[in-house]
Amino acid sequence: MARRRLPNFAWEYLDGGAEEEVTLRRNRQAFSEIGLLPQTLVPCHETQTQRTVFGASLPLPMVIGPTGYNGMLYRDADIQLARAATARGLPFTLSTVSTSSLEQVVAAVAGVNLWFQLYCLRDPQVQTDLLQRADAVGCKTLLLTSDAVLLGNREWDKRNFVKPRHLSLRNKLDVLCHPRWIKQAVWPHGLPIMGNVERYLPSDQRTIEGAAHFIGAQMDTGLDWDALARLRDNWPHKLILKGVLHPADAEKAVALGLDGLVISNHGGRQLDGAPASIDCLPAIAAVAKGKLTLLLDSGVRRGTDILKACALGADAVLLGRATLYGVAMGGEKGAGHALDLLAQELRLALSLLGKPDLNQLDSHDLRVTSNFSFFNELSQ
Ligand SMILES: Cc1cc2nc3c(=O)[nH]c(=O)nc-3n(C[C@H](O)[C@H](O)[C@H](O)COP(=O)(O)O)c2cc1C
Repeated sequence: MARRRLPNFAWEYLDGGAEEEVTLRRNRQAFSEIGLLPQTLVPCHETQTQRTVFGASLPLPMVIGPTGYNGMLYRDADIQLARAATARGLPFTLSTVSTSSLEQVVAAVAGVNLWFQLYCLRDPQVQTDLLQRADAVGCKTLLLTSDAVLLGNREWDKRNFVKPRHLSLRNKLDVLCHPRWIKQAVWPHGLPIMGNVERYLPSDQRTIEGAAHFIGAQMDTGLDWDALARLRDNWPHKLILKGVLHPADAEKAVALGLDGLVISNHGGRQLDGAPASIDCLPAIAAVAKGKLTLLLDSGVRRGTDILKACALGADAVLLGRATLYGVAMGGEKGAGHALDLLAQELRLALSLLGKPDLNQLDSHDLRVTSNFSFFNELSQ
């Protein structure tokens, strides 16, 4: 439904991966290579899906993850997503390059459990200011994304634009064929600006072009473990590294005193050929389980995916496209529907598996194919 609702360029932005999309496909394939081995005659009048993540009791092991420029999919999509998450007691993560700002989300969504995703920026003043703003609005969980200091090779973008931010004629015509999207996302003011960075732009460049140029120039390609250690010293709350696939990096994160990891390949949008996040989870859990909160994203589309991630050691999953499809389709209601579907599927799968308590799951409930094991051995 989201595909029908969105013009081609926005749909490909949401759904596309890098280069041959090998990693994008692997994200789904890897989940399908993990089977479930049910036990029978287990009463299942009630399921238990509660998880405590950073001191907060979540009714489900789900967090809406950071995705940039959501306002292109639906008006105020960050706020719509945050409302859907908050109504269900789940955290929402705002991207550095979101359309709504930190302050706007907090003002619009009472009681939001807001997490903030940081891209490390070259200008230390801008970065310090962003962190102070996140702290000031009550954000207690910060995710540093480390796998996107350079933008992956997303060829659909190259096809859809004749030059940066200028759509091809074909795509302009395609936009005109989507009047409902025009009404829901861009009419009458055009595409929204990036709310968090707007104030750092020179006054004559407060446009979407100016913001995109600013962010491109600000991405700190020198980001390294020392920079993360400095961030650890400067951020007094929970700090999570997002974009980890290698167990050696998980060990470094433990040594640095981080609070958590997001095992992620950025939804297959960065290094094509990287393994699926779920391929890497067992080896990372072996070195970091119990020491760090382990979150996983990339390819989570079904309740059974969440179950499999938890059985292999994840504390919770981050949702990217799963809730973006919903919000693109129907704002808060659509995002809420996506969350509810995942919750229903998870509860049903736990019951059918004969493990109605999520916390009782472990790898003995799974049967993996040789392909999945192969990936695991490689990553150790
Ligand atoms: C449209 C889109 C925009 C994204 N923007 C960001 C971002 O601004 N910051 C970030 O850390 N990750 C970003 N991501 C990656 C997600 O946080 C997450 O890792 C990914 O979506 C998970 O894969 P999945 O969507 O297949 O579940 C983006 C992903 C998508 C699909």
